Amino acid sequence: MTIIAGKTVLLTGASRGIGSMIAQAIAAEGATIVGVSRSPTGLENVGAIVQKAGGKWIGIPFDISQIESLPTLIQKVEQAAGSVDILINNAGIEIYRAFQDYSTAELQAILSTNLLAAIELSRLLLPGMLDRNSGHIVNMASLAAKKGHPYDSVYSASKAGLLMWGDALRQELIGTGVTLSTICPGYVSGQGMLADTGISAPRLSGTSTPHDVAIAVLKAIQKNQAEVIVNQDSFTVGFTKLLLGLWQLFPQLGDRMYRSIGVPQLNQQRIQNQQQAASSSDLQLNDSPVIFVER
Ligand SMILES: NC(=O)c1ccc[n+]([C@@H]2O[C@H](COP(=O)([O-])OP(=O)(O)OC[C@H]3O[C@@H](n4cnc5c(N)ncnc54)[C@H](OP(=O)(O)O)[C@@H]3O)[C@@H](O)[C@H]2O)c1
Repeated sequence: MTIIAGKTVLLTGASRGIGSMIAQAIAAEGATIVGVSRSPTGLENVGAIVQKAGGKWIGIPFDISQIESLPTLIQKVEQAAGSVDILINNAGIEIYRAFQDYSTAELQAILSTNLLAAIELSRLLLPGMLDRNSGHIVNMASLAAKKGHPYDSVYSASKAGLLMWGDALRQELIGTGVTLSTICPGYVSGQGMLADTGISAPRLSGTSTPHDVAIAVLKAIQKNQAEVIVNQDSFTVGFTKLLLGLWQLFPQLGDRMYRSIGVPQLNQQRIQNQQQAASSSDLQLNDSPVIFVER
């Protein structure tokens, strides 16, 4: 059992959603959380909650999609908190589109944030962990890593990449004292990127809470679990695993089941919601007062 108390934990995506819950759960075990995300305000809010509960917190605003700048982030983290014992690659973004409608910038943003940043942060921190013969990496994947989600194909690709890169790395690390866990949550309600779309999960899919995911992360570190599916309860997790196995044998059966429970249809609705939100924010920008500057 890995002891978390006294460890330094670098947590990306710490400013809201699932990351906020992970920060609280891990800090409660006596670790120092170094929370990273772009929003300084989000980090301050989560930091205040962690510290109010007696936890140790350092917030560092940083855009992890800037892959070439990640050595600077690691320098900042080590100056503020010393060497990192546990890395939790939790930050992620999701953009719903028919595949042909993605812009190049969107492809790059999703793959950089969800996949490349996790790989590069691990590459930068691993030599120190190997020198100390101890360390743990947690990758936040998704059930979309196991069966592609239509109209969310690039997110699915990023999560499948994270899952499979982690699977390979975990095997390279055997015997080194450094371990790796991949977490695959299904639909998460209440807070987080799915809740933010305003459209609930498909009926019959199973849902979990951000707190469930945070507890799964904690247990995965403590018990060095290789891969964890989080989906409502142990019955739904067992049923999900059974279906995933079946869909390996018969992928088109999985496609039909996804259609019948409404996975593609709900993602198409999410595209419409995103477009409406974007056009109403354009409208607000256009409505803003025009300021004339006299020359
Ligand atoms: N919610 C779900 O249903 C669900 C299901 C399966 C897996 N997951 C995974 O769980 C993780 C957390 O998701 P969530 O639901 O909590 O999402 P969320 O509420 O949208 O939070 C995403 C977090 O990532 C951070 N982030 C995004 N881009 C970043 C960047 N370029 N640099 C630094 N930080 C960045 C965000 O902070 P800033 O915006 O301040 O940068 C935020 O803290 C993700 O990896 C997601 O794919 C979620």
